[in-house]
Amino acid sequence: MSKPGATRGDRTGRGDRDGRDARAPNGPRVFAVVNQKGGVGKTTTAVNLAASVAAAERRTLLVDLDPQGNASSGIGVHPRTVELSVYDALIGRATLRDVMRPTELSSLTLVPSKQDLIAVEFELVDDPDRSYKLRGLLDELLRDDPFDYVFIDCPPSLGLLTVNALSAADRVLVPMQCEYYALEGLTALMATIDRVRTMNPRLEVEGIVLTMFDPRNNLAHQVAEEVKRHFRVFDSVIPRNVRLSEAPSHGKPALLYDVQSKGAQGYLSLARELLSSAWAAGRTGGGAGAAMGAAEKRAGK
Ligand SMILES: Nc1ncnc2c1ncn2[C@@H]1O[C@H](COP(=O)(O)OP(=O)(O)OP(=O)(O)O)[C@@H](O)[C@H]1O
Ligand SMILES: [Mg+2]
Repeated sequence: MSKPGATRGDRTGRGDRDGRDARAPNGPRVFAVVNQKGGVGKTTTAVNLAASVAAAERRTLLVDLDPQGNASSGIGVHPRTVELSVYDALIGRATLRDVMRPTELSSLTLVPSKQDLIAVEFELVDDPDRSYKLRGLLDELLRDDPFDYVFIDCPPSLGLLTVNALSAADRVLVPMQCEYYALEGLTALMATIDRVRTMNPRLEVEGIVLTMFDPRNNLAHQVAEEVKRHFRVFDSVIPRNVRLSEAPSHGKPALLYDVQSKGAQGYLSLARELLSSAWAAGRTGGGAGAAMGAAEKRAGK
């Protein structure tokens, strides 16, 4: 990953400041996939990165925290078929264990979402703990140690749902399309992350993921260079690739749809890079390269 960025401060501790931190230092790694800008590749990144990590036999949970339910349908769980969703858990009617569902990949479990999630802001308006609901639910689930990695797909806003994701996460992944206005959005996002750090001091930005990258576009290169001057950017760049946009309509991550496609390979490379970093490797340790190689072979069968 290129250069340490301005957002990585000295708040590396797994703070216990408010007594809400129930996670072990070597416990599961929780990532929020966030950008308030719409259509930048958050869901595509959450689904395909979670699938790539799961294909390397890391026990992985994908939490769909967007009322659009795109991560759910993109992994093969149509919101129409969902009875209990993340909404029921957030308002205290169910646990995450009640809500979660298996997927086609045996190491990947989904917490689905559907449209009713829109109502959560109203339901929780008088609840002083409303920003910590997901954190409490995840801590309860993760206490029994069922997962190595959690990826939370956020909606395109910095409202209560995204704040819940940022309170529950250790690290933020920011998918970004290399467009003219991309940097402006990042400034607002970083300000929100700084505000959430008062509730979750250990939150850090793991890195920016450049998505839908078109190497023939000069502006894309310029924006990428500018972003790298300010933030940590993953070396693995996700190209614009039609397979990535087709796969969700088949309810599959790209590696189960066309593992040889540049899009699937881009996310496998991103997963390899993520799992190679010391903190993200966590208790599953090294061996990311070998595990991803095996994952590619399995998916290619
Ligand atoms: N690398 C890519 N190549 C081609 N198409 C892509 C790529 N990444 C995402 N897309 C397509 O772009 C559209 C937006 O992507 P996606 O849904 O992942 O963005 P999002 O940030 O989650 O959107 P929202 O803000 O609405 O939640 C989708 O149709 C998706 O299939
Ligand atoms: Mg989305």
